[in-house]
Amino acid sequence: NVMDQLLGLSQLEKELCETLEIKKCLIVSGDSDQQEFVKEAIGKLADDLLQEILPKGDNIIAVMGGTTMEQVAEQMTCDLALKRTLTFVPARGGLGEKVEIQANNISAKMALKTGGKHRALYVPEQVSKDTYRTLITEPGVQEVIQLIKESNAVVHSIGDAISMAERRYMPDEIIEKMREKNTVGEAFGYFFDENGQIIYRIPKIGLNLENLADMETVVAVAGGSAKAQAIVAYMKIAPKQTCLVTDEGAARAILKK
Ligand code: G3H
Repeated sequence: NVMDQLLGLSQLEKELCETLEIKKCLIVSGDSDQQEFVKEAIGKLADDLLQEILPKGDNIIAVMGGTTMEQVAEQMTCDLALKRTLTFVPARGGLGEKVEIQANNISAKMALKTGGKHRALYVPEQVSKDTYRTLITEPGVQEVIQLIKESNAVVHSIGDAISMAERRYMPDEIIEKMREKNTVGEAFGYFFDENGQIIYRIPKIGLNLENLADMETVVAVAGGSAKAQAIVAYMKIAPKQTCLVTDEGAARAILKK
C-alpha cells in the first residue's frame, strides 16, 4: 500500500544519505530510465525542496543544463518567489548541448515560470581561443560572470560520462581517452572516474568545483539506474551540503538492493 511504499522510500533516503555522505537525499518512486514521467517527478520534488531550503530574501541561483534540469524548470511556479527575489544565471558557459537544454535557456525558463529575472551568458563556443579571451573581457559578459560568482545557490545535474561526451559531440580521441581511464561521471563539465578523480574538464567560464565549497544551497538532480555509478563517483568530490533529488532506480542500484 501507499503508506508502506512511502515508509520504504524514506528508509531508502536515509540509507542513501549515509552511503553518499551528503546533507539530504530525496527519492521519487520509479526509474526515469524506464519511464519518462519519473524525471518530471524529480523536477517537482526538486522544486518542493527549493521552496523549503532556499533562503528568504534575495537569491542568485546558478543553474546547469540537461534534460533533468529542463524538468526542474518546467515544474517551477511563482510559489518559489514568495518572500524571495530570484535571479537565475547559467552556472557555466555552454558545454555543447543543444539549445533547449542549455543552461542559458533553462535559467530563462525558470525566470519565466517564477516571475524572476535572468541573465544570459552570450559566449559562442565555436570561436578561437583568442576570440574567446577577448569576448570574456566585454563588460556585458563580465557583469554576468560577476553575478555567477555572487550566486548563493546552485542547481545542477549529474550525467553518465560517455553518454554526455557523445551527446555533446566531443572529439573521438577525448572520448577514447575517457574510456581508457574508466571515466564514469560528469557534472559541471568535469569528467571523473569512480574515485572522483578528474580525468577531463571542458575549459569554460563560470563556476568551478572549488567555488561550490562555500555555496549555501546546493541541489543535485539525477535519476535512473544507469546513472548510479556517476552519482556515487560525483558525491566523492561533491560539497557536503549537497542535497540530492533522485529516483528509486538510481537509489536501489547505488545501495544494491
Ligand atoms: O551534467 C549532467 C548532464 O547535464 C545530465 O544531463 O539530465 O540530460 O541526463 P541529463
